[in-house]
Amino acid sequence: MAATKLLLADLASDVKYVPSNYIRPMSDRPNLDKVHTSGASIPLIDLQGLRGPNHRDIVKQIGQACQHDGFFQVTNHGIPEEIVNNMLRLAREFFRLPESERLKNYSDDPSKTTRLSTSFNVKTEKVANWRDFLRLYCYPLEDFINEWPTNPPSFRKDVANYCTSVRGLVLRLLEAISESLGLNVGYIENALGRHGQHMAMNYYPPCPQPDLTYGLPGHTDPNLITVLLQDDVPGLQVLRNGNWVAVNPIPNTFIVNIGDQMQVISNDRYKSVLHRAVVNCNKERISIPTFYCPSPDAIVEPAKHLINEDEPAVYRSFTYAEFYKKFWDRGLATECCLDMFKKT
Ligand code: OGA
Ligand code: NI
Repeated sequence: MAATKLLLADLASDVKYVPSNYIRPMSDRPNLDKVHTSGASIPLIDLQGLRGPNHRDIVKQIGQACQHDGFFQVTNHGIPEEIVNNMLRLAREFFRLPESERLKNYSDDPSKTTRLSTSFNVKTEKVANWRDFLRLYCYPLEDFINEWPTNPPSFRKDVANYCTSVRGLVLRLLEAISESLGLNVGYIENALGRHGQHMAMNYYPPCPQPDLTYGLPGHTDPNLITVLLQDDVPGLQVLRNGNWVAVNPIPNTFIVNIGDQMQVISNDRYKSVLHRAVVNCNKERISIPTFYCPSPDAIVEPAKHLINEDEPAVYRSFTYAEFYKKFWDRGLATECCLDMFKKT
C-alpha cells in the first residue's frame, strides 16, 4: 500500500494525484506561472585567473554578487569535468537502486551523520516535501567515509574525490570573499574552528501536480556557503527583487550561495537569500549541494573589522551547534532563523 512507503521515490511512481499530506495551503503554493524563467538571472563569474592576472576583477565581481544577489554561478572553477560527471552518475545510480537496498541507509534522525531520508524533517513538519535525500558528513573524510554507502561499488571513492575537490574550490572562494570584505585573506577560513562539510544528494521524482507542492519550500541555508551541482533539469528558483527567478542549468557550472553564517560574519553586508526547489510533471531531477560550515564548537560572530559606531554588530556571538540545532527543530520557514540571534 502506497501510504506505508518510507521513501517518496517508491510512492511517486504509483500516484496520479499528489497525496494530501504533500499539498500546501492555497496561500503557500509555487504559482509556477508567475516565475520569471528568462531574462536577468544570477551573475555568472569566470574564475579563470583568480590567482593570476584577473585576481582583482574577479574578487570585485564576487563581492558585488554576495552583496546584491547572495547567489552566483562559477565557470572555470578548476574541478575536472570527469569528477563532476562521476558524481552525477553515481547519485542517479544510487536513487535507482532497489528500495530494499536504499532503505539500508534510512533514518529520520537529523543528528545522524550519514542517512537517507525524505521531505525535510518528517518528525516535525506539517506538510511534506516532494524530495528524497541522502545526507553525508564529509570533512574530515576519514571520520565519516566508513559510514557511507558501499553500493554502487565506486560510491566511496567517487564521492570522496568530489568532496575533496569541492573543498578546494570553497577555500579559494573564502579567500576571495574575505578579501572582498576588506578582511585579511585567511580571516573566514580561520573563523570556522576545525571546519565542517556536509553534502546532500537530492532526488526529486516527477510529480503529477507540481503546482500543489514543493521539492523544498523557500528557505535560506543555515551554513556558511553552499556550492550546488545540478543536473540538466531546471527546478532551483531564487528570490530577486520580490520575484521568483528560475536558475536554468548550465553544464559544468556550479551555483554558489551565501548562507546564514556568512551573513553574520559579514555583519549583514552579504545576504543569505531565499531560494526554493520546485518539481515538474515529467522528469526526475537531481541536485547535489555541498554545505560548507563552521565546526559545531566554532564561535560565530560579526568580524570586528566590520563593526563601527555607524554599523554596530547586528548579531550576538553563538556557537554553530546552537544555531544548527534551532534550524533543524524549527523547520524550513520563510522567516530566517537568523532573527533569533540578533542583538536586542
Ligand atoms: C538545499 C537547496 C536546491 C535544489 O538543498 O538547501 O536549496 O535545487 N537545494 O535542490
Ligand atoms: Ni538551500
